Amino acid sequence: MGEKICLITGATSGIGKATAMRLANMGASVVMVGRDQGRGEAALAEIKEKSPNASVDLMLADLSSQKEIRSLADEFKEAYPRLDVLINNAGLFRSKRITTADGIETTFAVNHLAYFLLTNLLPDVLKASATSRIVNVSSGDHSNGTIDFDDLQGEKGYKGAKAYSQSKLANVLFTYELARRLKGTGITANCLHPGAGVRTNFGSGVSGLFGFMVRALKPLMISPEKGAQTSIYLASSPEVEGLSGRYFVKKAGVRSSNVSYDERLARRLWEVSAELTNLPA
Ligand SMILES: NC(=O)c1ccc[n+]([C@@H]2O[C@H](COP(=O)([O-])OP(=O)(O)OC[C@H]3O[C@@H](n4cnc5c(N)ncnc54)[C@H](OP(=O)(O)O)[C@@H]3O)[C@@H](O)[C@H]2O)c1
Repeated sequence: MGEKICLITGATSGIGKATAMRLANMGASVVMVGRDQGRGEAALAEIKEKSPNASVDLMLADLSSQKEIRSLADEFKEAYPRLDVLINNAGLFRSKRITTADGIETTFAVNHLAYFLLTNLLPDVLKASATSRIVNVSSGDHSNGTIDFDDLQGEKGYKGAKAYSQSKLANVLFTYELARRLKGTGITANCLHPGAGVRTNFGSGVSGLFGFMVRALKPLMISPEKGAQTSIYLASSPEVEGLSGRYFVKKAGVRSSNVSYDERLARRLWEVSAELTNLPA
């Protein structure tokens, strides 16, 4: 990974931090994205301590804000000539419906629209690399999801679990549609499930049954390092060079849910996402 430049969102904690740590240790130039300066600097210092010679940078952006995503893309393009690996990883679970500064339901905004917008703002730097990889962190929970175009943002009735599984299905549909659109460009797009229960900050502070379950199951969960293995594999392994439009679990390409292969659904989601982020369809 010596010559590679990697941009990782949600790198201040959990799977994203473990991914950044390993890629930096493998010699890549790592650009960590965090939303909080203190947490970002703490994670950066931790990585630097473990890999003193690593090239690690921190950029700040609250990914619930489209304005901040646009500034992040500009900041990255000013600082780096190309991007070899983009890892869209930042994600959350919200038990109550909260809207962002852009007026969009937060789960949909951070877990899906941020992946969509950031990726679509970086094509020039991704194309500047001979081959580049986009890695989208989804979840096995995508298989419980449906895309409810009649109530995409839970305005008629919000349930945290439904919003989350919808957003994770959106990650898979987005990856497959992206892979189709990027065919022949040298840019690949794949997605993954990090593992059922990774011991991270995910779900901490969440009320209700979901928060209770997460806290109760923590001792049984796998470590963030283990949960990061498939992200690291897709970012770095020669075994997946040129492979695109696939879903991985435990470093193996597997079948995702039936609905995730619906191309019309993926196209419609793309169009709606473009509209919500003011991008051309
Ligand atoms: N943990 C699991 O069992 C599990 C299972 C399946 C899939 N996943 C997926 O794995 C990914 C990583 O989650 P994790 O388990 O590592 O959770 P985590 O420890 O909570 O990490 C989530 C990361 O996302 C960042 N983030 C959240 N909202 C953000 C926002 N508005 N703007 C910028 N950054 C934001 C967090 O930043 P802060 O540090 O500032 O909070 C943190 O760095 C998520 O996409 C999740 O859906 C996790």
